[in-house]
Amino acid sequence: MTTLDDLPIRDDLRGRTPYGAPQLDVPVRLNTNENSYPVPEPVVEAIGKALAAELRDLNRYPDRDAVALRADLAGYLGHGLTVEQVWAANGSNEIQQQLLQAFGGPGRSALGFVPAYSMHPLLALGTGTRWVPGRRGADFGLTAEEAVAQVREHAPDVVFLCSPNNPTGTALDPTVVTAVLDAAPGMVIVDEAYAEFARPGTVSALALLPDHPRLVVTRTMSKAFGFAGGRLGYLAADPAVVQAVQLVRLPYHLSALTQAAARAALAHRDALLATVAAIKEQRDRIVTVLRSRGVPVADSDANFVLFAVDGDQAAAWRTLLDQGVLVRDVGLPGWLRVTAGTPAETDAFLTAMDKL
Ligand SMILES: Cc1ncc(COP(=O)(O)O)c(C=O)c1O
Repeated sequence: MTTLDDLPIRDDLRGRTPYGAPQLDVPVRLNTNENSYPVPEPVVEAIGKALAAELRDLNRYPDRDAVALRADLAGYLGHGLTVEQVWAANGSNEIQQQLLQAFGGPGRSALGFVPAYSMHPLLALGTGTRWVPGRRGADFGLTAEEAVAQVREHAPDVVFLCSPNNPTGTALDPTVVTAVLDAAPGMVIVDEAYAEFARPGTVSALALLPDHPRLVVTRTMSKAFGFAGGRLGYLAADPAVVQAVQLVRLPYHLSALTQAAARAALAHRDALLATVAAIKEQRDRIVTVLRSRGVPVADSDANFVLFAVDGDQAAAWRTLLDQGVLVRDVGLPGWLRVTAGTPAETDAFLTAMDKL
C-alpha cells in the first residue's frame, strides 16, 4: 500500500497530521464551539425555499463575486460598511487562507500570539508562509507593550490577533489592536469569530477600519448564527484588500446554494441570533459555578470557557468523556475548553466535573 512518505509531497508537509477535533458520537458534544441550538423551523423553511429557487439554474455558475450576499453582510455589520469592503468565502478559515495567499506565502512570515486559534499556523503552513509563534502573558493576556515588542522584533508580513481569543475566551482591548497596527509593517488580521458573544462594552475592531487600510476583520456565521454546516465566513476591510483576495480566490468559490442559504439565514438573523443571550447566560453560569468550586477559569467573551484541571488534562478529558461529555483538549497543559450550549448541556458538564 502506498503511504504518504512514498509520494513526492512537499518536505514541509511530511510527518504532519491534519487538523481535526474528534467528531465522537456522544450525548453532550461541547468541543467545537458550535451553537447547540438547531436552526428554528421558520428559518429551515425559508432556507429550503431559497435553495429550491436556485435549483433550476444550477446549470449556470454562481455570481463569482457574491455581490448580493456581501451587501447583506455589510448591512448586518453596520459601521457604514459597503459591499466593496466586504468579502465572503466558505468559512472564515477560507477567508484567512485567501488572506495568506495574497499577503503571506513563500519568503514571507505570519506572527500569532499563542495559544490562539490552532488553524492560523496550519493555514500559514499550507500557504508556505513562515509561522512565528508569539508569546502571551502567564494569564494568557496580551498587553500592547508585549505585542508591539514582538511585532518590532519579527517584522512579520501578517499579524494574527484573535478577539475574543480562542481558546482562552478573552477579548482584546482595542488599544492593543491600534498599537499593533502602528508597529506592524504589513497586514493585521483580527479574527472576530466570536464577536457576537462578547460581554457588554467590548469594542469590535470594525470601529478601527476607517483609519487603517492594513486592518482586516474576519467574522463567521458558524458560531452565533448557528450556521456552521452552511460554511460562510467573511471579512471587512479597505476595498483594496477585497481586490487583493479576488486575485487569489478560486473562480466561483461560493456555490449558488451557499449564497442563497446564507442570504436566507441573514434575512432571519433575529431568529438565529436569539440564542446568543441564552448561550451567554450558560457561559457565565459555567464561569461562576467553576469559580465557586475553586477552579481557575479565564474570563470569557465567547461561547466557551477555558478551565484548569488538576494534573494531566488528557486524563481529565477522558474522565469527562467517560460520562458522555466531550470537551476540547487544546494541548494546553493543565487546561481544557468547554463550549457553552443549552442549560441541560451545562448541567451534564457540571455534574461530570464533580468526578474530577
Ligand atoms: C477563532 C476562530 N476563527 C475561525 C474559526 C473558523 O470558523 P469557520 O471556518 O467555521 O468560519 C474558528 C472555528 O472554531 C475559530 O475558533
